[in-house]
Amino acid sequence: MTAEPIVSIRNASVVYGKVAALQDATIDIAKGDFLTLLGPSGSGKTTLLNAIAGVVPLSTGQLLVEGVDMTAVPPNRRGFGMVFQNYALMPHLTVFENIAFPLRIRRVAGEQVHRKVMEALDLVRLTGLAERRPKQLSGGQQQRVALARAVVYEPKVILMDEPLGALDKQLREGLQGEIRHLHAMLGATVVYVTHDQEEALSMSTRIALISDARIREVGSPHDMYFRPRTAFTAGFVGTSNLMKGRYRGDAEGWSTVELAGGGLVRGVPRTDLVAGAEIMVMLRPEAIDLLGPGEPTSGLNLLEGEVTDHSLQGTTWRTVIAVDTETRIVVQRLSRVARSFPLRSRVQLCWRPDDTVILTQ
Ligand SMILES: Nc1ncnc2c1ncn2[C@@H]1O[C@H](COP(=O)(O)OP(=O)(O)OP(=O)(O)O)[C@@H](O)[C@H]1O
Ligand SMILES: [Mg+2]
Repeated sequence: MTAEPIVSIRNASVVYGKVAALQDATIDIAKGDFLTLLGPSGSGKTTLLNAIAGVVPLSTGQLLVEGVDMTAVPPNRRGFGMVFQNYALMPHLTVFENIAFPLRIRRVAGEQVHRKVMEALDLVRLTGLAERRPKQLSGGQQQRVALARAVVYEPKVILMDEPLGALDKQLREGLQGEIRHLHAMLGATVVYVTHDQEEALSMSTRIALISDARIREVGSPHDMYFRPRTAFTAGFVGTSNLMKGRYRGDAEGWSTVELAGGGLVRGVPRTDLVAGAEIMVMLRPEAIDLLGPGEPTSGLNLLEGEVTDHSLQGTTWRTVIAVDTETRIVVQRLSRVARSFPLRSRVQLCWRPDDTVILTQ
């Protein structure tokens, strides 16, 4: 038996005048999930989060919390915690009182307030700063106060809309760690909005990819990265190489794809396609290895090209290879172990059949 989802959205749409900001969204959020809503700007992420919060009413559809219809319940009675991009702290209150605020409005007893606020401060590593005011804190510290305030009354679900968007890269990475830690420590259910795919990959238990007001694909970070189902996902999550091709069926005992620009991909893992089907082959940059001309390969994939760019990125060499007049393939190999190839040299591209992803849309 699977546990009842803590939140279910069913066929939810939000229409602003003539703009459909969210169309027919259906998703279940399990207890303990860290669900990230990922998508380009204007795709509808905030709209979906606000619809869950109840800040934005649904035009059609339903929202269930633990199986109970809450579509018409106002935001303050849903029991969700919110964290926004701009900390939204109250400037005249101390850090302590900012964090205590949700407890005060719930009329929690004084001693308990003190204990819970101190625990929350500890959790976000701000012990000792309780008496400061928000303007006496750095951006990262303010955002940690906002996190503490969102978790202090142990809400069923914590909703976060780009909470790290205003911070620089280093601070953002530090706080990503804090939020992961909070999620693990509290066993909380989190719905998190970001347009940053790396952040989504590193934080989430599940990602919902949104574009043009629709949920396009939902999956674990691992599946979204290694087994995307659409070219859009492959392109939005991580760097992808896409090549057009035609599925040739089981010739020579192999499932084979003939690439449009020349080249063969054999040992293709997927066999439920009809011969002649137009497909795309997707390869991640780090799945590909490079060899010099004539060097022995597994023979499973036959693809050659010319190096058009080669640069050291630190951890990896990034090499760009023209395999035909239109197609450029990006390859990333660990710089500690991979050798360097000069510009304009000929190379063979090799990869394991398992790393071939076949996309039909
Ligand atoms: N109050 C509103 N009135 C009219 N249109 C709106 C309103 N709020 C959002 N929209 C429109 O709905 C669409 C989705 O907006 P939303 O804010 O959900 O996008 P987003 O994915 O959060 O984008 P971003 O990454 O830029 O924050 C956009 O086209 C936006 O212009
Ligand atoms: Mg937004």
